[in-house]
Amino acid sequence: MTPTDAGALHGSEAVAVEAERRWAIVVIAIISLLIATMVFTSLHWASMPPSRVETVDPRNLHVSGEFVESNLGTMLDADGKVVVRLIAQRYAFEPQCLVVPAGVPVTFRATSTDAVHGFVVDRTNANVMLIPGFIATFTATFDKSGERLMPCHEYCGTGHQAMWGRVQVIAADEFRAKARDGARVSCVPR
Ligand code: CUA
Repeated sequence: MTPTDAGALHGSEAVAVEAERRWAIVVIAIISLLIATMVFTSLHWASMPPSRVETVDPRNLHVSGEFVESNLGTMLDADGKVVVRLIAQRYAFEPQCLVVPAGVPVTFRATSTDAVHGFVVDRTNANVMLIPGFIATFTATFDKSGERLMPCHEYCGTGHQAMWGRVQVIAADEFRAKARDGARVSCVPR
């Protein structure tokens, strides 16, 4: 082997090693970014899996208890807390249209009667899975008034893509006027 051949072999090996090193750096950077994103979102937005395990019998949701039809929608609790109760079932949310006040913490309590559904209000971090037998709860504050979409984001069957509702965020004063005397507020056309 001449010195030139040895040099060429050595050169191509060096190129391969260098390319592998670059790719290793890229992969480490991507993994680090993903981990940093997880840490940042969990600390900054306090996003976390639903912590409490609260169960409900999905077979008699419509018949008795918290999720009977007359109790669904948004209400002002006696202590001034705004609570939304809704159920998801193939292929609709009940109620289909929610009314919530702007700038006030709103607590959601929701469950599913049949399959696993997803609940998300667009352009917010109100995002949770609705699982039959479990009550999902979370609190969100909507900064601006206006209308938002509320699609199901968990594949739940053939009608999944048609399963969505709306959220109307209205001024807090207007909401309080509507929710007087324990009325359930919703924007479903009657
Ligand atoms: Cu409900 Cu997808």
